[in-house]
Amino acid sequence: MPTNQKLRIAVIGGDGTGPEVAAEGMKVLDAVCRLEGIEYESKEFDYGGERYLRTGEILPPGSLEELATYPSILLGAVGHPDVAPGILEKGMLLALRFHFDQYINLRPVKLYPGVETPLAGRGPDDIDFVVVRENTEDMYTGTGGFMKKGTPDEVAIQTAVYTRKGCERCIRWAFDYTRKRNKRKRLTLVAKTNVLTYGHDLWWRTFQDVAKEYPDVETDYNHVDACCMWMVKNPEFFDVIVTTNMFGDIITDLAGILQGGMGVAAGGNINPEPGGTSMFEPMGGSAPKYTGKNVINPIATIAAAAMLLEQAGYEKASQRIIKAITTVTGTKMKSQAAGRMGYGTREVGDLVVEAL
Ligand code: IPM
Ligand code: MN
Repeated sequence: MPTNQKLRIAVIGGDGTGPEVAAEGMKVLDAVCRLEGIEYESKEFDYGGERYLRTGEILPPGSLEELATYPSILLGAVGHPDVAPGILEKGMLLALRFHFDQYINLRPVKLYPGVETPLAGRGPDDIDFVVVRENTEDMYTGTGGFMKKGTPDEVAIQTAVYTRKGCERCIRWAFDYTRKRNKRKRLTLVAKTNVLTYGHDLWWRTFQDVAKEYPDVETDYNHVDACCMWMVKNPEFFDVIVTTNMFGDIITDLAGILQGGMGVAAGGNINPEPGGTSMFEPMGGSAPKYTGKNVINPIATIAAAAMLLEQAGYEKASQRIIKAITTVTGTKMKSQAAGRMGYGTREVGDLVVEAL
């Protein structure tokens, strides 16, 4: 149900091809809002590598307060060739995920019709699952340090932090999501309980506890290494996966390639609480070498815009975009790879608008 809040969207194009794909996402979002009679407001923010190199600031003073007034953020891409790796990722992407407590990283893995998967003999019916990745804990908290740095005796410690509250809210959300998705109604916990006998024991026990509240949802468990194997061998088995931050990062790149690559894979960083700010993004990077060439694939960002609408309560508009994407991948695009789509970035956006 649409919330009584008006749809307000902060658009952060970011680096490289980010602004180009964000523009197509907003083009499609604007078109569907017109068709559905949805009013919205949007504002662009120029945060990213260019601004950082100019001003030394990633998120300038007051930016978090201003972004907090937006329930939805559409993010293009983060990563600039002249900025050392990690600075923008930590200073912007992870900073926003953590600041807004976006504890769900939702990554649908859906092979659209007409899209090629590297799995021989597999089609859209086989590859259609969702990964719910915890998004605020684990090795991402930046807990650790060095001892005797730069010496032969150097010690580096990087701690994985797991809390009962953190895993419980994610697991509970995943159960709710599995129930609502209503497909196979199977939730698979992916962890490594045979080795991570503290942190993943907490996840395992919490999963068992929460499962009692969802007798209609079938539960299942995979060690993360086995999950990678099954995902390639029997992708049709999966319905919804819930997993930790680090493992979720890794398995969603594998899953992303099964669904046709980074040109189509979208994700949402969701704070499901009332008044929360959620952020939606294509999973691919900033692809600097394609910047400004009108060759990058905007489908992932358009799918991210659809996720944004769904989270904001506009399910019908969201479905309408997904259906239009299906038409365009199924009947128009030659490939999902940059430069080989048979169309330019803007033309793919136009085709989705037409298909709406
Ligand atoms: C992702 C990315 C990020 C992550 C990086 C850029 C920090 O790989 O969104 O999956 O590790 O979460
Ligand atoms: Mn990743």
